[in-house]
Amino acid sequence: MSDPEDPQLEARLAEQETFEPPAEFVEQANVSDPGIYEAFADAWPACWERAADLLDWETDYDEVLVEDDEPFYEWFVGGELNASANCLDRHLDERGEDLAIQWEGELGDTRRFTYRELHREVNECAAALRELGVEEDDVVTMYMPMIPELPVAMLACARIGAPHSVVFAGFSAEALATRMNAADSEFLVTCDGYYRRGDALDHVSKANEGLAGVDHGTTTVVVDRLGDDLDHELGDDQVGYDDRLAEHAGADVAPVTRDAEDMLFLMYTSGTTGRPKGVKHTTGGYLSYVAWTSHAVLDVDPADTYWCAADIGWITGHSYIVYGPLALGTTSVMYEGTPDYPDKDRLWEIVDTYDVTQMYTAPTAIRAFMKWGEKYPAGHDLSSLRLLGTVGEPINPKAWKWYYRHIGEESCPVVDTWWQTETGGMMITTLPGIGTMKPGAAGPPLPGIGAQVVDADGEAVAAGEAGYLTVQRPWPGMLRTLYRNDERFIDEYWAEYSDPESDEWVYFPEDGAKIDGDGYVTVLGRVDDVVNVSGHRLGTMEIESAIVAVEGVAEAAAVGGAHDVKGEAVYAYVILEDGAEQSDDMEQRIIQGVEDAIGAIARPDTVIFTPELPKTRSGKIMRRLLEDIANDDDLGNTSTLRNPDVVEDIEAKVRGD
Ligand code: PRX
Repeated sequence: MSDPEDPQLEARLAEQETFEPPAEFVEQANVSDPGIYEAFADAWPACWERAADLLDWETDYDEVLVEDDEPFYEWFVGGELNASANCLDRHLDERGEDLAIQWEGELGDTRRFTYRELHREVNECAAALRELGVEEDDVVTMYMPMIPELPVAMLACARIGAPHSVVFAGFSAEALATRMNAADSEFLVTCDGYYRRGDALDHVSKANEGLAGVDHGTTTVVVDRLGDDLDHELGDDQVGYDDRLAEHAGADVAPVTRDAEDMLFLMYTSGTTGRPKGVKHTTGGYLSYVAWTSHAVLDVDPADTYWCAADIGWITGHSYIVYGPLALGTTSVMYEGTPDYPDKDRLWEIVDTYDVTQMYTAPTAIRAFMKWGEKYPAGHDLSSLRLLGTVGEPINPKAWKWYYRHIGEESCPVVDTWWQTETGGMMITTLPGIGTMKPGAAGPPLPGIGAQVVDADGEAVAAGEAGYLTVQRPWPGMLRTLYRNDERFIDEYWAEYSDPESDEWVYFPEDGAKIDGDGYVTVLGRVDDVVNVSGHRLGTMEIESAIVAVEGVAEAAAVGGAHDVKGEAVYAYVILEDGAEQSDDMEQRIIQGVEDAIGAIARPDTVIFTPELPKTRSGKIMRRLLEDIANDDDLGNTSTLRNPDVVEDIEAKVRGD
């Protein structure tokens, strides 16, 4: 293990711009032949058979890809399979007694499920749901925190061919109702509550409030997570999970045969307009794609103890806690709580205890770890780790290097994976057994993925120039449509850069990006996060990265505010590390840091020091709100924030300036 206090090492890492995959990792990597890029390009779309081959099919597909009705692509056409059978039944003979899920509650309680035990509970849950009236193609909503019953219920739905729609437990009652109404979902699986920072949190009241806003009849299953810590009563049309499963103890439910293109699940995600978009994913394409990327990028093997520290309420948890790892028969760790309870080393204690081999988390978490300091990971043995991953937002080089050094101890490749709810799985990242890593750049598109950075006219931009990320080829994990709204599907994702007349269909993820001479993509953020200063387009993420690189800075958000002369000026909201001092000198260093990294054009006009940034419940910085503050605009409703109080403080600072 490297000495965490070694200043020379710190200086070398700060300067180093590229990193090679560790030889020890390459030797054992699932994918280590650089020829894979060419092999996929030469055999496209047949190359995707490799992904489909990771699954068991009841009926072989006739065609890999059908493009008769673009952009409504169809994958593995004619094939039939069941996702729950692929995640459970097929593993029973070989590894029925191996652990599928190792769950840890926030209070330290643990639950372990072997593949056989998980299979048993999923069968019982499937039987119970059926008896309650769930039929094939009925949408079952789930509103649950990180407890094992959530993946159980998802797999039970998959088993009986009922698509699930998981609503993140941190969402409001109103959000739940909106989603249930939009999907005409008549079934809900929820729980009484869960633990947060040691307190028993009532969840079922919120679920009930949401149900009151549902415009049709519903049946609800309630899991008892809190026992005596929270009394709850079942209302009409509500049943207890344990009772129902007990009634079906030992039940066998044959997995329903699903067409490859049948819907596996719906996931509502936010768009530029207020109404959530119901992203539809299918059984064959999605499952093949998440199994393939888990294998190739996360390097998952059955013998691993893999940990994705996301929440199943988001796509990352669907793809890389539930479906990908279980399809590959590995052991997954699942953690209920927060990373700083009872102390800031909780995650490292879990890595140490379970001998976690891969860890996949978000840059925002890494920046929090950085702020807390390296003493927390340093107190634990993290040598079991062999790969690290990040997802969800751009990771600035400083955070990347901190993760690489203090968590990976310089012996784990870091995969910075760009993708979206809509893409189903990873799209742009280095392959950990092959690619040189460049902190800050996600990497090249994965084999078989066609991605380009283009200008407003759809022409490829020169290396180093900012533009729009686009995807030129379909891929198996892609969303098939927005639920019951084909028109919006085309408008949102295909209208911008496609040319239907000449049958050229281009997917637009609404992200800004640049690409370097080696084909590495740096994602700059959503295009609505781009500021235009004197006609120059600047990624707020780039500015933030520059600010965060300044010594003493923990986190930053940069937004554009109206400016008489420049059009927009940069406002920088900055959180300092514990112990760093707010001062004119610090402000100057921040401004200089931005000028040095990007150019004088990006200099922040205003630097606002703040102890916190307004964040959504999913942990994303609410840049729009910071823009409104900068622009002196009406802030609208801030109650959906994780920390609404911080807004007033920041507003007072900016407007008092
Ligand atoms: O802006 C990109 C950012 O997250 C968006 C997708 O968000 P969501 O659908 O919630 O899915 C998050 C988990 C896959 C993208 O449009 N994003 C995601 N991963 C990265 C990223 N930005 C930069 N680098 C990434 N690795």
